[in-house]
Formats: sequence, structure tokens, C-alpha cells
Amino acid sequence: MVSEPRYDGLADWYDELNAAWAQDNRAPLLDLLGPGTGLCLDLGCGTGQNLETLRATGRRVVGLDYSSDQLRLANDRRVRGEALIRGDAAALPFADGSPDRTPDISGIGLASSRALVA
Ligand SMILES: C[S@@+](CC[C@H](N)C(=O)[O-])C[C@H]1O[C@@H](n2cnc3c(N)ncnc32)[C@H](O)[C@@H]1O
Repeated sequence: MVSEPRYDGLADWYDELNAAWAQDNRAPLLDLLGPGTGLCLDLGCGTGQNLETLRATGRRVVGLDYSSDQLRLANDRRVRGEALIRGDAAALPFADGSPDRTPDISGIGLASSRALVA
């Protein structure tokens, strides 16, 4: 469980910093995930710069992040019907086996710049 949302107050700065990385991650991420139709959880979605890429795989996307400041910008990248959840990766509000893809992209201290697919 995280004790405090350490990315609060950094969203605008992070969004600018991360823009080129998100672009660089696009092709590898599409390659790793492949096409699909299930639900894709963007774990630690930050400002949502990967939402469009995940959407492009054909899946329904839901973003989850602990920082309401990050989610503030992610909301501008959300499309109609797409959910953004403020929550903790250690206590996910999903049943086992759902979603069927959960990339952690540069997030949660599990990865640096690589996209991990569980
Ligand atoms: C380095 S940023 C990456 C953001 C996004 N994945 C990207 O690639 O643009 C890490 C994000 O993980 C979120 N985060 C860290 N620990 C978390 C936790 N336990 N639960 C949910 N989100 C968390 C932070 O708030 C932050 O937005």
C-alpha cells in the first residue's frame, strides 16, 4: 500500500518530460501486447500518455493511478466510456483474471523505461 501519492504536484512537469518516452514506447508496446479485445488495465497510468496506444490494440482500456494530480491530465486523454480510477496497485479493484492485460509502463517502481506485460 502506498502511503502518499508522491506524483501529486508533478503532473504538468512529468507530462512534458515523458512525452518523447511515451512516443518511443508506442511501437514496442503494440508489439508486446498484440491485438486483442479484452480489458487492458494501464497500471500507474500517470497522465495517460499511453492510453491511446493501448486503445489502438483493440482493447477496452482502464487507467489506474494513485495520484489525483496525474489523473487530472489523464482525464483529458480519456475517451467516452473509458474509466480512470484513483487506486493503489497493491489493492486492485478487479476480480482475479480480469483484466486480461496489465502493462506497467515506467511505473510503480517495477520498471524504468521498459513496458512490462503481465
Ligand atoms: C513514472 S510514472 C509513469 C506513468 C505512465 N505509466 C507513463 O508511462 O507515462 C509512475 C506512475 O505510477 C503511479 N504509482 C506509483 N505507485 C503507485 C501505486 N502503488 N498505485 C497506483 N499508482 C501508482 C504514480 O502516481 C505515477 O503516476
